[in-house]
Amino acid sequence: MKLFFNMQKIKVKIPPFPADSYTITIGADSLPSVLSKIKKLLPKRELFLITDSNIAKTKHLKNLIGKQHLACHIITPAGEKSKNISTVTKIIEKMETKSLGRDCAVIALGGGTVGDIAGFVAAIYKRGVPVIQIPTTTVSQADSAIGGKTGVDSSISKNAYGAFWHPAAVYIDVSTLKTLDKKWFNEGLVESIKHALIADKDYFTYLQNNIGGILTRKTKPLEYIAVKNCRIKASVVEDDPYEKNKRRMLNYGHTIGHAVEAASNYKLMHGQAVAIGIIAANIIEQKLGLGDKRRLDIFKQLFKKLDIDLRIPKKIGKRQILDIISRDKKAVQKWPRFVLLEKTGKVLCKNGQYAHRVERKIVEEAIDILLNQDF
Ligand SMILES: NC(=O)c1ccc[n+]([C@@H]2O[C@H](COP(=O)([O-])OP(=O)(O)OC[C@H]3O[C@@H](n4cnc5c(N)ncnc54)[C@H](O)[C@@H]3O)[C@@H](O)[C@H]2O)c1
Ligand SMILES: [Zn+2]
Repeated sequence: MKLFFNMQKIKVKIPPFPADSYTITIGADSLPSVLSKIKKLLPKRELFLITDSNIAKTKHLKNLIGKQHLACHIITPAGEKSKNISTVTKIIEKMETKSLGRDCAVIALGGGTVGDIAGFVAAIYKRGVPVIQIPTTTVSQADSAIGGKTGVDSSISKNAYGAFWHPAAVYIDVSTLKTLDKKWFNEGLVESIKHALIADKDYFTYLQNNIGGILTRKTKPLEYIAVKNCRIKASVVEDDPYEKNKRRMLNYGHTIGHAVEAASNYKLMHGQAVAIGIIAANIIEQKLGLGDKRRLDIFKQLFKKLDIDLRIPKKIGKRQILDIISRDKKAVQKWPRFVLLEKTGKVLCKNGQYAHRVERKIVEEAIDILLNQDF
């Protein structure tokens, strides 16, 4: 017997889930009012808080929850060491023992590490529950809490397990930055500088003129940069929520930056590595007739004010950097695409593309110059 099937096509329309937009609320000393706002936003959801052992020692946790009882998990030890799948398993099993269903929501109170773990837990718990991001570091308030990238590291690479899971809301209280260690505070500001360089010259000038107030953690400049960072990142993410093209511009300084970070075995801090990557990008720009030395000197001066150590460890060589960039996850035929500045405040966009192929010889020469720089 022969069976005949007619080809039929069925289109499945998928409504945006969990929502098609979210609000970022920025303020100072605002944590005490955040929980009631979350409860209003997600009225029927049981809340599960994820934070880390350092935050738990600060007043921020108390400011957020007050006297209320909230089921929670405190990540220990704090920091990247815990950003792995076993932490995710622990959290998910804890949520199960609390009998949380698909009608719960996760709150992430902490830096990028907590935010990435909590976002990933939310993305996969019972096939997805909303996450609220409450970032407490310069990196997370400028970058990781907005944009929906979540994930944890494997023993082989960073963010090997991951998902796009956009938050239901983001609450930024810039006062939380006052307890952050200087090294974390300062290196996180490199992402703010990156935002200014790719999208807003006036913002870059603001950073140059107000770096003193930012470094002494005055409320007004911290609020100002939070608003600027969120506007820039949000506008890029809105145009390209799943990183197909435009979002690549956020990778400015990250191609060679990631390579030196990895080559240092993650001894260099991310912001430090990105600052080095921004210098490398500028050297490439100079070779392509896009940048100039004066601009490079201005960038270096600003990084110096942040006390960023721009020296590359001696044991890192050109071969190692070339090897790592050829395995870049965005490489095409084993060669990365570079995000470049057309001028301060504007990335180069050619034929609708934000990342460009640069001849190997030029990149090699640029790395030679980078490695022989005297800082
Ligand atoms: N998802 C994204 O788009 C994205 C973007 C950038 C970075 N990231 C990720 O973010 C992580 C780094 O995040 P980070 O730089 O915020 O570091 P982090 O979250 O590891 O925090 C740094 C340290 O500061 C402590 N801390 C955090 N907030 C504090 C506060 N207010 N007061 C006192 N101590 C505080 C933490 O406990 C930790 O020890 C990395 O894993 C990186 O991959 C993700
Ligand atoms: Zn970065």
